[in-house]
Amino acid sequence: MSDAAASPGAVCGGPDISVIIPCYNEVRNIAPLVAALDRALAGRRWEVVFVDDNSPDGTTHAVRQLAQKDARVRGLCRVGRRGLSSAVIEGALSSSAQIIAVMDGDLQHDDTRLGALIDAVQSSGCDVAVGSRHVEGGSNAGLANAWRHALSDGGIKLAQMVLPVRLSDPMSGFFALRQDVFEAVAPRLSGTGFKILLDILLSSPKPLRVREVPCGFRARVAGESKLDALVMLQFLALMLDKLCRGWLPLRFVAFCLVGSIGVGVNLAVMQSIRSMGGDFPVAQGGGTVVAMILNFVLDNNITYRDKRLRGMRFMGGLLAFMLVCSIGAVANVGVAQMLFQAHEGLTQASVAGAILAVVWNYAVSSTLIWRV
Ligand code: GDD
Ligand code: MN
Repeated sequence: MSDAAASPGAVCGGPDISVIIPCYNEVRNIAPLVAALDRALAGRRWEVVFVDDNSPDGTTHAVRQLAQKDARVRGLCRVGRRGLSSAVIEGALSSSAQIIAVMDGDLQHDDTRLGALIDAVQSSGCDVAVGSRHVEGGSNAGLANAWRHALSDGGIKLAQMVLPVRLSDPMSGFFALRQDVFEAVAPRLSGTGFKILLDILLSSPKPLRVREVPCGFRARVAGESKLDALVMLQFLALMLDKLCRGWLPLRFVAFCLVGSIGVGVNLAVMQSIRSMGGDFPVAQGGGTVVAMILNFVLDNNITYRDKRLRGMRFMGGLLAFMLVCSIGAVANVGVAQMLFQAHEGLTQASVAGAILAVVWNYAVSSTLIWRV
């Protein structure tokens, strides 16, 4: 029996550092990354936690194979969920090390700088050490093209306007922090989109002391970037959420935006059916059905992206959504008529009816259809 097993209170050699790596379809990058960490963190007690969202390319299988040979490798596979930030949060919550480091799983971050990030947190008294491409010695050469450079620069400027600390690279996804700092901020995180560092800095109950460490950003060799229009939208939503200090649920904002698109589509379809000679009830019914289907698809892909329904559950969800919205529409008209008869102005009556319908639709669809 080993010493550790003989005395339960003994130090068993758990890791000091957890490197949390969000990954989606990165099967070819897993083994090279573990080899790079092995070199970069030689002489330290570390573990790596790959958080994969059940990638179809077999990323989790590759992680498990490595984990069987190397106890420093751990995997966390999330089923039916997506998102870089939320993956990092769950990986970090699974750690009991004192230092948490976060890096991408595609070898774009310069692993040789990981030691410097950890040292900065361990010895220089800062709360968070950030790998920066925009301080002397850093480089952003690996960004794919001029468009990505422009996007990154624009995002940095926007983030700097809302950040309470000065930071040259708030869009970085390569950083290290103490576990207690993460624990304090974790319940306040939005967990939306790609920018987990920004989320941490904007959500912390107290201003965090940040140090920047110059880092390079390499070009991606295997696999592809997951940045798309939706991720950019989520970045804007994160900024909005933080500016509103969380009093306006982000999902509700998205739900209302999608709903207003639905209103526009409803009117457009109604008008085109009318212009083709259709009766008013036919035009109204057609507009409503098209708008409801479109709203459901958009909500399923944007508002509730992390709980997306597929296959038969999509069809069931659509039917339930149409039922919920129809009840909302009846209530809308009913309340508006009641208030109008009680001599409220037409505008006040319509607005009150519409607010009631939106809140009803949101409350019921988020608890029954997508189960937040
Ligand atoms: N689990 C999980 N779920 N991981 C994800 C998801 C997801 O939905 N989406 C992306 N990832 C993983 C990728 O597999 C990769 O390991 C890492 O997150 C970064 O994703 P990329 O798609 O490679 O992002 P990028 O290179 O375009 O963007 C990165 O830009 C910054 C620099 O501007 C960022 O996300 C940063 O981390 C990075 O520092
Ligand atoms: Mn990348």
